[in-house]
Amino acid sequence: MATTRQIDCTVNGEPVTATVETRLTLADFLRDQLTLTGTHLGCEHGVCGACTVHVDGAAVRGCLMLAVQVDGSAVRTVEGLSDGDALSPLQQAFRENHALQCGFCTPGVLMSMQSFLDEHTNPTANDVTEALSGNLCRCTGYAAVVAATLQTARDGVEHHDQSPTSGGNGS
Ligand code: FES
Ligand code: FES
Repeated sequence: MATTRQIDCTVNGEPVTATVETRLTLADFLRDQLTLTGTHLGCEHGVCGACTVHVDGAAVRGCLMLAVQVDGSAVRTVEGLSDGDALSPLQQAFRENHALQCGFCTPGVLMSMQSFLDEHTNPTANDVTEALSGNLCRCTGYAAVVAATLQTARDGVEHHDQSPTSGGNGS
């Protein structure tokens, strides 16, 4: 008989209480129990990065983590990047730079790049390429993903420089 346990966490800012099998992966929990199917599953062995989500701000592979491990944590999925219908700056930059084709890898790539941008405000192309190395994409050749990520970082710095709280004139 399967062992179950109750977990309490937040997912994209919403409180979630659920009973899960102790062997259930975080990716399967998100997809099957919460129907958040934006998190994709490719290899299911920690290699491709398609299942990348954030747990307490850190990018993790949802196929390698168990759902019971996020008890008490804040989980963010690709569904939590946008603000309603408004794309996040990174998503918008992906669109402008044609940084996706089939889109299978894209949720995981977005979550990895967002986590990277949260920690690096002024990255080089090499920094982005290195951060992207854990996400496999069969379509794009990666160049457009790097361009979109760099554009987001640049725009974020400009936005910050122009904000009233940072000493700019706010105009
Ligand atoms: S599905 Fe998790 S790393 Fe490939
Ligand atoms: S866009 Fe097709 S696998 Fe990345």
